[in-house]
Amino acid sequence: MRVAVLLSGRGSNFQAIHEAIARGELPAQIVCVISNRPDAAGLQRARDYGYAAHAIDHKLFASRAAHETEVLRVLDEARPDFIALAGYMRLLGAEFIARWRNRIVNIHPSLLPAFPGVDAQAQAVAYGVKVSGCTVHLVDEQLDAGPILVQRAVPVHEDDDASTLAARILSQEHAAYVEALRSLATRAWRVEGRRVVFS
Ligand code: GRF
Repeated sequence: MRVAVLLSGRGSNFQAIHEAIARGELPAQIVCVISNRPDAAGLQRARDYGYAAHAIDHKLFASRAAHETEVLRVLDEARPDFIALAGYMRLLGAEFIARWRNRIVNIHPSLLPAFPGVDAQAQAVAYGVKVSGCTVHLVDEQLDAGPILVQRAVPVHEDDDASTLAARILSQEHAAYVEALRSLATRAWRVEGRRVVFS
């Protein structure tokens, strides 16, 4: 399975995917890494690992559509089976999503549909939930809303703040992302309404 990774920052989920492949636990290959931020630590990490690493700085494009056109061009050349969003902090346009329907995977640091959007861990602490976690899902036109592939739960402790909860969730994110990609790579699956059905 050919995977393109899109990221904007630290890239720890990308690293987890890379390490799972290197350990032989995920039958996949990363065919390119794209960042909209040239200074993303994850992009440097991708270069260090020897991947085709592309900085496509959204600030250098006149419009969102023009930036996406360039991202799509690079993806067309790389020919991934799946696009893994790993901390990619740009909303994808409808055309992008339609072009890669059910082939874009995202990870979100809450148990969706709770706490979509930014600062999900802070939202969870502020709400006072006792359990949170992460969700790996297919991307559709709605924000953080597509069919769910994998969820993992963690407890929220009394003395948690957003950053302690984020750290606890992050360690589960890495395993969840690898598990979701492994399922997509190794099992037959289909989307029925909101549900991803593996057979
Ligand atoms: C993760 O918390 C992920 O759930 C969210 O962005 C963060 C990315 O972290 N979408 P990293 O860049 O993979 O370390």
